Amino acid sequence: MSPSCDFLVIGSGLAGLLSAHKLSALGSVCLLAKKEASEGNSQYAQGGIAAAVDPGDDPSQHAEDTLKAGAGLCNEEVVRLVVGDAPARVRELADLGVHFSAKGGPPDLGLEAGHSRRRVLHAGDATGREIVQALLKRCREDRGVRLCEGHVAVDLIRDSGGSCCGAYVLQRATGSVRTFTARATILATGGAGKVYIYTSNPDVATGDGMAMAWRAGATLANMEFVQFHPTCLYHPQAKSFLISEALRGEGGKLVDREGRNFMAGLHPQAELAPRDIVARAIDSELKRTGEECVFLDMTHKSADYLKSRFPTIHEKCLSFGIDMAVAPIPVVPAAHFFCGGVRTDAHGATSVPGLFAVGETAHTGLHGANRLASNSLLECCVFAERLFGHLSARRELWEQRPISPPPDWNPGKAVKSDEAVVISQNWDEIRRLMWNYVGIVRSKKRLERAFHRMELLNREIDQYYWDFLLTPDLIELRNIAVVATAVIRSAMARCESRGLHYTLDYPQPVESERHDTLLSRFSV
Ligand code: FAD
Ligand code: SIN
Repeated sequence: MSPSCDFLVIGSGLAGLLSAHKLSALGSVCLLAKKEASEGNSQYAQGGIAAAVDPGDDPSQHAEDTLKAGAGLCNEEVVRLVVGDAPARVRELADLGVHFSAKGGPPDLGLEAGHSRRRVLHAGDATGREIVQALLKRCREDRGVRLCEGHVAVDLIRDSGGSCCGAYVLQRATGSVRTFTARATILATGGAGKVYIYTSNPDVATGDGMAMAWRAGATLANMEFVQFHPTCLYHPQAKSFLISEALRGEGGKLVDREGRNFMAGLHPQAELAPRDIVARAIDSELKRTGEECVFLDMTHKSADYLKSRFPTIHEKCLSFGIDMAVAPIPVVPAAHFFCGGVRTDAHGATSVPGLFAVGETAHTGLHGANRLASNSLLECCVFAERLFGHLSARRELWEQRPISPPPDWNPGKAVKSDEAVVISQNWDEIRRLMWNYVGIVRSKKRLERAFHRMELLNREIDQYYWDFLLTPDLIELRNIAVVATAVIRSAMARCESRGLHYTLDYPQPVESERHDTLLSRFSV
């Protein structure tokens, strides 16, 4: 039987969980998770969630910091509505069972790069885990939410009128593709860090929502703005482990092997300059010295303090033989966050009727050319609420839409592949190509090379897709190829440097280039 529901929510990170929980008050919800429900970027969030809750703070200051980090490309209206709603959203999280760290009564506020004051609510250094566990508990208890773990969405389905009416979904346990039909489909599939070889993101972050939306004809915006986090743990056995910016907020210094603090003098905010600046400074330091990493020095803090404020990071470092209380932590930049994504309006609606996007997969206009730290969890919460408000106020958008069963998945003449090595080779090649040619520092020549190579890879991958039976690896390979190509094309279209997009050919911002980069399959 094809499952059908009022709302199909694809993705169970913060954006998906909160959307599903809220929408279950309006109708039936199917909530899909590619692997186990908790796995996603949200679960690994460390620093916290930004909100002007301190009596001395004000949303207008939060807005100013967001706009400044965004380097001229934020949608100011969206910025103001998001930061204005932030205090209410963190209160709501607390009501849903999230425990934020507190100093006596009021929350303990952290400081991160680009913020002009302490503003980040956190749960120690495991904020994401605390939030996801609380919301997952709610969704598991919600009778209106049907959680389907191990279900990988393959493609969106559009009806004869062009509206989205659900998705084809691969069930890992059976290897079969099921048809999920819905009156409204919500993409909450997170980011795409895995498009790069070095990333802070877990394995599920392969940009599936962006790729599916693009194939369905939705508009993607600003895909060139990929945020590289300056400090991921550098150790041969450490896979994707972040060293939170909150450490720099507590006085951590970036030093080279000799202990020289190379950020001092480079920017008035030094270590707490916006992320693009710090990541580029580290990149240039690594290229200049030929070293493989720089170091984050926290030795000014006591072991007791570090253990209680940053227990997860402290323990992880110790597991690799690094005692951060006595020795600097080896760190490198890594792909962390996609500021671009599926373009939505201020309610999460995409350009395809019946299709919505929330969270990191969406481009709402909040982040502009560079996201301010800890604004992403906030964006998930605000847009889950805005989507819910919109769909409850405008029931005609979904309630009367008939759910007519679309054709079942047709595997065609696809056969089982005995060439898994081809998929892993392509996967590796794309991720390395993106790191080397479309990374922190770009140039016209590098982008053109990447583009031409991707043209060939896309043709090859498209062929496997039709020839071989679907596997999660093949689905992800196809998606990272779409996202990589979108990043390259958007980067080639931007003839300036702005925020996270830095190119040697146009090293300065150019006023006439101050607009979003829009891509749609039908405008190619
Ligand atoms: P995710 O949490 O990534 O969830 C995506 C979901 O979609 C997952 O359940 C996944 O299984 C599912 N999915 C994906 N593809 C499919 C598919 N094809 N079919 C079915 N399901 C699918 N931001 C902050 O604001 N503050 C922080 O402190 C912070 N720290 C961070 C630390 C790390 C290490 C990382 C990686 C990110 C951090 N960020 C932080 C960014 C922030 O965590 C993310 O942007 C945010 O959590 C994204 O939430 P999401 O719900 O959109 O996506
Ligand atoms: C961090 O803790 O450094 C990550 C914060 C973020 O990405 O917003």
